[in-house]
Amino acid sequence: MKNNIKLQAISALFIMLAAPAFAKDSHDHDDERDHHSNRLPNMFSAENSHGKDATYSTAGFIDLNNPFFKSIGTNGRSCASCHAPDQGWTITPQEVKKLFNKTKGLDPLFRLVDGANSPLADVTTVTKRRAAYSMLLEKANIRVGIGIPSGAEFELIEADDPYGFASETELSLFRRPMPTTNLKFLSAVMWDGRETTLQPGSGDCIFGTSTCFSPVSFDLGTQANHATRGHAEALRDLTEEERDAIVAFESGLFTAQIKDNDAGELTAEDALGGPKALKKQKYHFGINDTLAGDYKTREPFDPNAMSLYDSWNRFKTTKSTHGTKSARAAIARGQALFNSKPILIKGVKGINDDLAVSVLPGTCTTCHNTPNSGNHSTPMPLDIGIADESRRTPDMPLYTLKNKTTGEIVKTTDPGRALLTGKWKDIGRFKGPILRSVASRPPYFHDGSAPDLQSVVEFYNTRFSIGLTEREKADLVAFLAAL
Ligand code: HEC
Ligand code: HEC
Repeated sequence: MKNNIKLQAISALFIMLAAPAFAKDSHDHDDERDHHSNRLPNMFSAENSHGKDATYSTAGFIDLNNPFFKSIGTNGRSCASCHAPDQGWTITPQEVKKLFNKTKGLDPLFRLVDGANSPLADVTTVTKRRAAYSMLLEKANIRVGIGIPSGAEFELIEADDPYGFASETELSLFRRPMPTTNLKFLSAVMWDGRETTLQPGSGDCIFGTSTCFSPVSFDLGTQANHATRGHAEALRDLTEEERDAIVAFESGLFTAQIKDNDAGELTAEDALGGPKALKKQKYHFGINDTLAGDYKTREPFDPNAMSLYDSWNRFKTTKSTHGTKSARAAIARGQALFNSKPILIKGVKGINDDLAVSVLPGTCTTCHNTPNSGNHSTPMPLDIGIADESRRTPDMPLYTLKNKTTGEIVKTTDPGRALLTGKWKDIGRFKGPILRSVASRPPYFHDGSAPDLQSVVEFYNTRFSIGLTEREKADLVAFLAAL
């Protein structure tokens, strides 16, 4: 117990030490300045390799007294242990490594329950802890433990887990924490949508069906409680007040890149980068739906889902142009590619099978359709192949699943949605995340397998044989980094 209190004191100290690093954007005269030590100023900003982001909170400041930042469980963790304001509201390997070195791997982030590669790992010395927490250190991945559901259409016939723990009662799934910001645009909660619940008769129904979902705020409340019971090993549920306070807090956050190393201010010359414009962005369930058109306005699907850099379309560059103008032109070209570069979508479970089309001509926005946010505006988990056997690296487990009816075999590093539904067709399906402030949170994809945005673009170029030129790749990266 004594030890626990000491650890909490250490982590409280880190929050205080870290606070001055969140530089206030000096151009924001309209935001209230404040000198309270228990809050971070509005529009506080954190650096990343492409520039810096900023978070706008509708509360006017980031309230460090919110239960989001409190240790409510038994292991010293708070939500901010894995959703840190200065790491795009998730965590990055760079900062996790620093924290490990500072605390010799004793910070509450480093807990056996889901921080370690195996909950049974030996963590008695620093060297052993470095090995036991390697997935957290290298990819900032958390071990999500989910078993094969009863009545599943498949069985687990082999669990090749390099850490010797996984079994059919609990597969080890190494996943990136998703950001707890920009939640206004959320249509499904968690990579596999497991916190998204059905509510017959609600307003949020898949077009033309009676499949209707609970309001996201409701699911976020349940999610917060599960996170507290699970990640923080709490012995009690959150009170209703705590739940509501956490959901209100996280739902009021907007984070986006605000300054780019090459293009400068992302709000310059009428561009709509940064969190303030994002806060004003329209959203409703099924907005700009790819299949049925906008659920509310009944406008057909518009592939030009990204428009925040429209005003920079006018910048034309030649070989001799340098500086911010040419960087802004690159971002605008990247936006155009994201909206319109043809992609032949093939072999994607959730698209090609459900629509019974072997090839669907589309673009990035076919899947990332929510305007200026980039997630999918309805829950639509897709298998783009991230968990495929062919992409397995030696640090990842590999699960061999057998279809009980057909005898077919699939090997995957993470069955994804199928562990919720038990359905064979759902193996490897994950949701497409909100893409704003993506520069703040490498590595990418649910398993952190893409170390940077270049690798993300390379993945798509190879997976769908897009045929991007080197300049197009660089433009797409410039655009993603400016989100
Ligand atoms: C030990 C690390 C850890 C802690 C502590 C933690 N989370 Fe998470 N969080 C994760 C991971 C990992 C995921 C993604 C897991 C998945 O999808 O399977 C996640 C996902 C989420 C999401 C889903 C976002 C989306 O886009 O779907 C929300 C919201 C969230 N967490 C909120 C919280 C809150 C609130 C708390 C505190 C009560 C909390 N988390 C504590 C690791 C953590
Ligand atoms: C067929 C649907 C589909 C298409 C087309 C598509 N994406 Fe994705 N995207 C997804 C899904 C699903 C994920 C999550 C996959 C996972 O982690 O398993 C994702 C993840 C991402 C991520 C990672 C975000 C993060 O937080 O880790 C980025 C960045 C991204 N996509 C950019 C793009 C770009 C750029 C294009 C066009 C070149 C594109 N996507 C085309 C479905 C798609």
